[in-house]
Amino acid sequence: MKPLPCARVPDRIERLAALDRLAEPLQKAARTIVPQGSQLKDLFSGTWLGHPLHPPLTDVVIGTWTSALLLDRLGGRHAEGAADRLVAAGILAAIPTAASGFSDWAELREGNRRVGTVHAVGNTAGLVLNMLSWSARRRGNRGAGIALSTAGYAIAGMSAWLGGHLAFSAGVGVDHTAFEAGPSDWTPVYEAAELEERTLAGAQANGTGILLVRSGETIHALSDTCSHRGCALHEGELDGDTVICPCHGSTFGLDGSIVKGPATSPQPRYQTRVRDGRVEIRA
Ligand code: FES
Repeated sequence: MKPLPCARVPDRIERLAALDRLAEPLQKAARTIVPQGSQLKDLFSGTWLGHPLHPPLTDVVIGTWTSALLLDRLGGRHAEGAADRLVAAGILAAIPTAASGFSDWAELREGNRRVGTVHAVGNTAGLVLNMLSWSARRRGNRGAGIALSTAGYAIAGMSAWLGGHLAFSAGVGVDHTAFEAGPSDWTPVYEAAELEERTLAGAQANGTGILLVRSGETIHALSDTCSHRGCALHEGELDGDTVICPCHGSTFGLDGSIVKGPATSPQPRYQTRVRDGRVEIRA
């Protein structure tokens, strides 16, 4: 089956440099409102949840508005009150959904940022139309209310499709180490004598980036690919027993655990040993 022609829309949006004029000041504002390294950033990122917060929240919004649409079309007069309440529930759910999406979008660059900008504009339009719908319903203007929420649903649906592109095609929000198996056999990655005490060192094991840290007699090895957006951790900073990613400040313990987001997945950790003067690792 051939993809629909609209499948190429994200490529076109990615090339729309004019969107940067809107995105740049908005991203600055987003980073001021939700500062990197703050509790609020971790809350909106989903660090506490173990995966991004934004996608499951969108299900609530889309689910309530889908249900409202079905009741409007198929439910008859006795379902009117329920449909109105579902429109209102979707509006309420859209607030934390938008906040978490705004926080995630603040980290995007270039083409993904442009697609994210259109996604946000579409979602805002969908929200406003549903708010107008609710207001019309409250005033007893049911026909206008249904027309407005239907239009809002269509726009929010297209916008959700762009969100799906960001997640499934561009990998925004996925664990960037998800497909990293690492070597199952002991593999030499570094000259032990060259591994300095408490210094971040980058190495390779069969094409997998490895971060090494020597701490006394112990050598720690983690994936060098930050689970958040894939930056190289060895270019970051060692702070006590934690590694800080250079891109968005996610902080990991030397055992790979998350100390601070926005990452939502821990870093894969490898076993280490020294043989014949070389550091070896295995999964
Ligand atoms: Fe974003 Fe590491 S890539 S914190």
